[in-house]
Amino acid sequence: MKTNDGIIGSHFYMVNGIDSTNRELLENTEKYEHGSVLCAQKQSSGRGRHKREWKSEKGGLYFSVLLKDIKNINDIYPFVLLSALAVIRSISFFVTHGIAIKWPNDIYINHRKVCGILAESNSQGNKHHLVIGLGVNVNNSVAHLEGLRHPAVSLKECRDEEVDILHLLDKIVNEMNVLYKDFKTGKFQDYLCELNRLLYSKDQEVEIQTPRGLRRIIPLGFTPEAKLLCLENKKEIELFMGEF
Ligand code: BTN
Repeated sequence: MKTNDGIIGSHFYMVNGIDSTNRELLENTEKYEHGSVLCAQKQSSGRGRHKREWKSEKGGLYFSVLLKDIKNINDIYPFVLLSALAVIRSISFFVTHGIAIKWPNDIYINHRKVCGILAESNSQGNKHHLVIGLGVNVNNSVAHLEGLRHPAVSLKECRDEEVDILHLLDKIVNEMNVLYKDFKTGKFQDYLCELNRLLYSKDQEVEIQTPRGLRRIIPLGFTPEAKLLCLENKKEIELFMGEF
C-alpha cells in the first residue's frame, strides 16, 4: 500500500488478481478508507454496465475508487462524469486526436471504446457509499472484443507501442484528485465547456444503450446538473446518469 496527499488514492491497494475491484470495495466498505483506490492486474469477473462482463486480461488498467458516507448519491454523479474527464486528460498525453465521451461515460477514440466506467452504490441505513470503477484498454489485446456492438481499441494500438500502466494510473488518480477538490467546492460548472467539447456525436443522431433497450437521441450538451440535454423524437429531454 502506498499513499498520496490527496483524497483519491490516499490509500492505495494493488493486487495481482481479483474477481472484481468494484465488488471488493462495495462489499467491504468498512475495511477501506474514504478515497481508497484498489487496482488489479487482472479480474476474473470484471463487471460492466447493464450486467455485462468486462473482460479484464493482464495488460489493461482496472481500478476502483471508494467514496464513503455520501449524503445523497445523486449529488455525486457529476463527479463520475469528471472521472471520465480525468481519464481523457491523462490519455491525451498518449493519444491526441479523436477522444470523446459517449453518454453516460464511455470514452471513445475515433469511434472505438477505450474506457468504460461503472459507478455502483451501496447503502447502510442513511449511509451511502459510491464505487467508481474504471477499465482502460491499455496494452491488452482487444481483438477478441471485435464482435461487440461498439468495437474496442487499446492505447497500444493507437500508439503502436506499449504504455506504462502505472504511470497512466498515477496520472488518472492525480487528475481525479484535482477534479474532486473542485467538485467538492462547487466548481463542476467550470468544466462544462471542456465536457461539451468532448461530447461524442454532439448534434448528431446516435444510439445509446439504456436499461430499457436502445434509444436514438441527438446529444446537445451537458447541463450544470451533469444531465445530458438531448433530442429524442424531436423533443428536448434530459437524461440522468443515475438512471443508467
Ligand atoms: C462498462 O460497461 O463500460 C463499464 C466497465 C467498467 C469496468 C471496470 S474495471 C475496474 C472495475 N471493476 C469492475 O468489476 N468493473 C470496473
